[in-house]
Amino acid sequence: MTRELLRVEHLRVEFPSPQGPLAAVRDVGLSLAGGEAVGVVGESGCGKSVTALSLLGLVPLPGRVAGGTVTVDGRDLARLSAAELRDLRGREVGMVFQEPMTSLNPVFTVGYQLAEALTTHQPLTRAAARVRCVELLGEVGIAAPETRLHAYPGQLSGGLRQRVMIAVAIACGPRLLVADEPTTALDVTIQAQIMALLGRLRRQRGMALLLITHDLGLVAQNVERVLVMYAGMVVEECATTALFGNPLHPYTRGLLASLPGTRDTRPGQPLRAIPGAVPHPSRVPEGCPFRDRCSEAVAACAAGIPPLEGKRPQHRARCIRVAADV
Ligand SMILES: Nc1ncnc2c1ncn2[C@@H]1O[C@H](COP(=O)(O)OP(=O)(O)OP(=O)(O)O)[C@@H](O)[C@H]1O
Ligand SMILES: [Mg+2]
Repeated sequence: MTRELLRVEHLRVEFPSPQGPLAAVRDVGLSLAGGEAVGVVGESGCGKSVTALSLLGLVPLPGRVAGGTVTVDGRDLARLSAAELRDLRGREVGMVFQEPMTSLNPVFTVGYQLAEALTTHQPLTRAAARVRCVELLGEVGIAAPETRLHAYPGQLSGGLRQRVMIAVAIACGPRLLVADEPTTALDVTIQAQIMALLGRLRRQRGMALLLITHDLGLVAQNVERVLVMYAGMVVEECATTALFGNPLHPYTRGLLASLPGTRDTRPGQPLRAIPGAVPHPSRVPEGCPFRDRCSEAVAACAAGIPPLEGKRPQHRARCIRVAADV
């Protein structure tokens, strides 16, 4: 088996509030082997981005990791110095965000920012950095890379900006790419091109991918295994084929039923989205966090947080209503 690259155990992330600390992430566990592609899905506010930021030691202040561990290639993030963390970012783990304009600086050229990313981790002469920049832009499918070096992010289309962002993220050859909604801001055709690019880079570089999205369609086509998150917790984890073929948690089944084009949808019918929304961390119900939106909830669901347990081979779910059959 390929070596484990990332391990997250019982991650808890809190933000202070007037009512005391609120947990945006309450219990996330995850393991990723080298070269593997894993998806994290869930509705808005369930803690996907906070989880992603934790993997790079980038939880925004005054938030903090209040429990659990994140281990990258055997190294516990909590034990690393600020300098070691900076070194890990880019070299071991690269990150791509939804909106490149927030992470690309609008006042510097593409070439300048790419060269910065390259030279943070390795000393390079100006000329060598320029050559690498052109190669990288070519690798992410940007035509006429020499001329694009002089462009400012604002002069590029959304799709090109996202390609530049990916070039920055892979500049130092990370073995894991964390992509948080990498295509949400793009139209469907460009979305497909960016996902194809990420797939190609993965294969060519043997890079692992953690794809964070609320789009189950993207998950279906691009990852081998999926974690479903709800209210800061993993509620289901399985192979992508099992997620679509045999979803176990009522939340996952609700998400799938809300997809356009599934068998329960007829033209002209409204999407069967799950009524309600992910609760704010201050209003998560006791017991199973999903029980107030769950059509299958019973009194026992209020008794405690259900454990995430194996219900089928390689298939875990956090629901007392699902019988184990392993
Ligand atoms: N800087 C912050 N300060 C306080 N609370 C925060 C902060 N960032 C996130 N949160 C809270 O943490 C919870 C999870 O947020 P997160 O951004 O991880 O959700 P998400 O799953 O990425 O949602 P989306 O799909 O909208 O991107 C939310 O309730 C949010 O309000
Ligand atoms: Mg997010």
